[in-house]
Amino acid sequence: MKNIVILISGRGSNMEAVVRAAQAEQWPARIAAVISNKADAKGLEFAAKHGIATAVVSHKDFPSREAFDDALQETIDTFQPDLVVLAGFMRILTPGFVEHYAGRMLNIHPSLLPLFPGLHTHEQAIASGLATHGATVHFVTADLDHGPMVDQATVPVLPGDTPEVLAARVLEQEHELYPRAIRWFIEDRLRIEDGKVHVDHT
Ligand code: GRF
Repeated sequence: MKNIVILISGRGSNMEAVVRAAQAEQWPARIAAVISNKADAKGLEFAAKHGIATAVVSHKDFPSREAFDDALQETIDTFQPDLVVLAGFMRILTPGFVEHYAGRMLNIHPSLLPLFPGLHTHEQAIASGLATHGATVHFVTADLDHGPMVDQATVPVLPGDTPEVLAARVLEQEHELYPRAIRWFIEDRLRIEDGKVHVDHT
């Protein structure tokens, strides 16, 4: 049984999709904890209702990024994670923290990386006149929104799309994409070689 720790900062709809998939598909894994840097993160309620341990480590309680990441790491590690899942966790992580979870920390980003790292991805996709947009699941490296890519999902950008409408279309795909990628990790089907992820589909 593998332990998954999920980090959120807000709504937590991706976390919810992962929890539901893990239950419905009876993954050989348990969501050991959901941890937030914000006490009012909406997703904490869902996690608690589902009997998942929750914790809050507020970045505001620490004088530096390093001190926060140290405390966060300490909290995460009490749950002995095989995998750390970033699901809308809105913090830039220090290299030491990222290194500690190298090869066992995933993130979902709402763009087709390497396009549009950072914030406001949907606005940028519309402004660029792209016909296709989407989301990416990748292993986390010290480089923000980069790192070996596990899988991507695409959606069309339609005439008249607002960032909100496009975000909702992408989010629907994220809820399929992220649980699937996490399941591959849990089933030991992912291998990183020369900075690229190979998925064993046999
Ligand atoms: C998602 O769009 C995800 O790709 C990005 O942050 C958003 C989080 O949404 N990293 P939610 O909290 O999972 O609902």
